Amino acid sequence: MTTGTSSLFDLTGRTALVTGGAKGLGLAMAKGLAQHGAPIVLADIDDATGEQAAKDLAAETGVEVSYRHLDVTDQGMVERVVAAIDEEVGGLEILLNNAGRTIHHPLEDGDGERWRAVMSLNLDGVYHVLSAVGRRMLERGRGSIINTGSMSGIIANVPQTQASYNASKAAVHNLTRSAALEWASRGVRVNAIAPGYMRTELTRGFYEAGGEQIDIWNMMTPMSRPGEPEELAGAAVYLASDASSFVTGSILSIDGGYTAA
Ligand SMILES: NC(=O)c1ccc[n+]([C@@H]2O[C@H](COP(=O)([O-])OP(=O)(O)OC[C@H]3O[C@@H](n4cnc5c(N)ncnc54)[C@H](O)[C@@H]3O)[C@@H](O)[C@H]2O)c1
Repeated sequence: MTTGTSSLFDLTGRTALVTGGAKGLGLAMAKGLAQHGAPIVLADIDDATGEQAAKDLAAETGVEVSYRHLDVTDQGMVERVVAAIDEEVGGLEILLNNAGRTIHHPLEDGDGERWRAVMSLNLDGVYHVLSAVGRRMLERGRGSIINTGSMSGIIANVPQTQASYNASKAAVHNLTRSAALEWASRGVRVNAIAPGYMRTELTRGFYEAGGEQIDIWNMMTPMSRPGEPEELAGAAVYLASDASSFVTGSILSIDGGYTAA
């Protein structure tokens, strides 16, 4: 038997674009990739936070980390910025297609504006970046794409009213499978992670307010707690690296057991 360091999870020199990377789950997963050697481009609309996050991550990991303003809902901007980044880094090899949001509103309110705001970011945004980055990866016959889905794409959450979010994430999961099948024989793998309740900016207000909603969330999570952002890093490294070379079209649940119950 041989011993020594495995290169299965080595990402040295494989540049990753991380959308919604200024904070939260995107930044935590970016850190995991950087710790395994991947140069990182954080992209977000929160420029002050993103610039600072890039500096901190570079200092902490010693890899190259830069920040770019990118509104993923603007397809023209996505095409321009992705083209520029891809050229600058000599070809993106990893995409964490992660920017997303939730708005709680009851289905019967007929609020098309809020519905479209969620769809525009969570679904259209994921499509714009997937297409722009995927096209370039296909030209090189190499790449790994990880979309951030959600357990809300598998189950419908209670007690909060977030039908638009649930529908958008179910769509992200099937977009993931569709892209995986279109590109499976051309060297580009596409997978999604489906987090459960995680403690980030997106959920901070709810955890701070506490009360019945949080009791229900914890009760319905077999591990009885929210996940911490860094608990997604291992999955991101796995799906980005050669350790998952035969994995495509997969939706990986990371939810403290929520969807197993
Ligand atoms: N936190 C959870 O419990 C949870 C659970 C499951 C899935 N998710 C998903 O994880 C992803 C990240 O969520 P988070 O909890 O880290 O949220 P977050 O609010 O902490 O971070 C989201 C980031 O996306 C950025 N963003 C918003 N609109 C953007 C746009 N148009 N273009 C580019 N960037 C934009 C924000 O500025 C922010 O930095 C989302 O897709 C979310 O749906 C979160």
